[in-house]
Amino acid sequence: MMRAAVCREYGPPEAIRVEDIPPPALVPGHVRVRVGVASVNFPDVLIVANKYQVSVPTPFVPGSEFAGTVTEAGDGAFAAGDRVMGTMMVGACAEEAVVPATSVTRVPPGVDDRSAAAFGVAHRTAYHVLRSVAAVQPGEELVVLGAGGGVGLAAVQLGTVLGAAVTAVASSAGKLEAAAGHGATRLINHRSGNLRQALREALPDGADVVVDPVGGDLAEPALRALRWGGRFVTVGYASGAIPRIPLNLVLLKGCRILGFEFRGFTAHAPDEVRRDETELLDLLASGRALPHIGAAFGLAEAAAALRHVADGQAIGKVVIDVTAPGL
Ligand SMILES: NC(=O)c1ccc[n+]([C@@H]2O[C@H](COP(=O)([O-])OP(=O)(O)OC[C@H]3O[C@@H](n4cnc5c(N)ncnc54)[C@H](OP(=O)(O)O)[C@@H]3O)[C@@H](O)[C@H]2O)c1
Repeated sequence: MMRAAVCREYGPPEAIRVEDIPPPALVPGHVRVRVGVASVNFPDVLIVANKYQVSVPTPFVPGSEFAGTVTEAGDGAFAAGDRVMGTMMVGACAEEAVVPATSVTRVPPGVDDRSAAAFGVAHRTAYHVLRSVAAVQPGEELVVLGAGGGVGLAAVQLGTVLGAAVTAVASSAGKLEAAAGHGATRLINHRSGNLRQALREALPDGADVVVDPVGGDLAEPALRALRWGGRFVTVGYASGAIPRIPLNLVLLKGCRILGFEFRGFTAHAPDEVRRDETELLDLLASGRALPHIGAAFGLAEAAAALRHVADGQAIGKVVIDVTAPGL
């Protein structure tokens, strides 16, 4: 048997209970991983609530990314003892996970399980968005909404690495402080006043690129901050509201509204995916793209970890340390 967080009925994060259940069976082409750390993503909350774009039948073990050690390999590419990190739709919040060998990557030497577990979704999303979708260039003005969240803080960090000047927009001093720590040079608290005005004052010549993982009421003022020909990338709707943008703004600004969705991008841009992932792994290995871990929980506290993310409290990434003693 293994300890695992289990969702038997859809609902809020508190619907999750930690139980002893049989470990998943190893199947050909997969590896069995002893999970060291799992990391929480916003869609985990949506999947538990059955509000995600794909419905996962109950019961299931939530958790979409992890780092750990291979204990059994049904695929020649890996062997027992290999340290790996990976992503999956569900199944990471458990002592053991069975995943397709194609979904795991070796952890670069010197990178710990927490950083490796927190890397797979937010950093890859942010890097594909910046490098391939928006094609951010050195010296460009980049505005990041939700800049204290998982995707947002990764976009701040990676935008800085790509040479952009980053304006971070977030709801609290703590989130903005984290963004400053990862390279943002202009900080805007959208709860302190009018975002459109604040962006106009911060960027009188306009922004080149906006990255938006939040949507809702923030999207339109951010789009209005673009200069002529700028790019707006819609990545997610953590606010719970899908914005409707008046098309005359697009006409007047000659701007481009672009979208990023992980599975679609992976399927349609394999060459860019390969290039981006190689560059990103180098950045992780060199310590230039280590995720910001804002909070850590034990497996017994998996529901609290998802609650932290559901309430928009997370700064950077939230991890679940499956091996934490006594939890
Ligand atoms: N397109 C893709 O392939 C892809 C990939 C990964 C993630 N996503 C999506 O991107 C979005 C952000 O993901 P994430 O991992 O960065 O999430 P996160 O860490 O929870 O951050 C989301 C941010 O959204 C803001 N927010 C505003 N209203 C909120 C609310 N009611 N509840 C929670 N947050 C709220 C918060 O920023 P402030 O407090 O500063 O306002 C929060 O920091 C999610 O919708 C996720 O599904 C999409």
